[in-house]
Amino acid sequence: MKRVAILISGGGSNMVRLAEAMTGDYPARPVLVGANDPSAGGLAKAAAMGIESFAVDHRPFGRDRAAFEAELLRHLEAAEPDIIALAGFMRVLTPEFLRHYAGRMLNIHPSLLPKYPGLHTHARAIAAGDAEAGATVHEVTADLDAGPILGQARVPVLPGDTPDDLAARVLVQEHRLYPAVLRRFAQGDRRPVFL
Ligand code: GAR
Repeated sequence: MKRVAILISGGGSNMVRLAEAMTGDYPARPVLVGANDPSAGGLAKAAAMGIESFAVDHRPFGRDRAAFEAELLRHLEAAEPDIIALAGFMRVLTPEFLRHYAGRMLNIHPSLLPKYPGLHTHARAIAAGDAEAGATVHEVTADLDAGPILGQARVPVLPGDTPDDLAARVLVQEHRLYPAVLRRFAQGDRRPVFL
């Protein structure tokens, strides 16, 4: 049984879906939820699900990423996670931090990578006139949003879509994709899942 820590920055809907999936014969369990923002809505949801949670506010650390990450690491290490799942975690992590979890950290990104790494993915897909959009789960490496792809889900871009319309359509698929990918990954199977 793999121990999973989930990092969030906001509402945590992906975190909730992951945690809900991790029961029965699922090969992993949620052991910790962390946020870089004490007001992240997902923290209360984690607590309501009985999952230990913590926040390390990144703001007092200013540009001192190393100090912020040392604090983050202190919390994570205490929970002895096998896998770290980033689920809407909006801080870039340094290569030094990532080295602790090389090959053991996943992220979900709201685009069909390698298209649109970074921010504003849905607005960019609409502006480009793309017929399809989606989400990707990938292994986290030092290259932002560019690690090996572990799964993708696709949705159509519809005429008149706003970025919010598209984000909502993609999010529904994120909630199916991430638990499916984590299940495989926890079994040591890195073949990508395509939905
Ligand atoms: C999700 O759409 C996720 O793909 C995205 O943030 C949202 C978090 O929603 N992640 C990124 O943009 C990562 N760069 P949630 O808090 O409801 O899971």
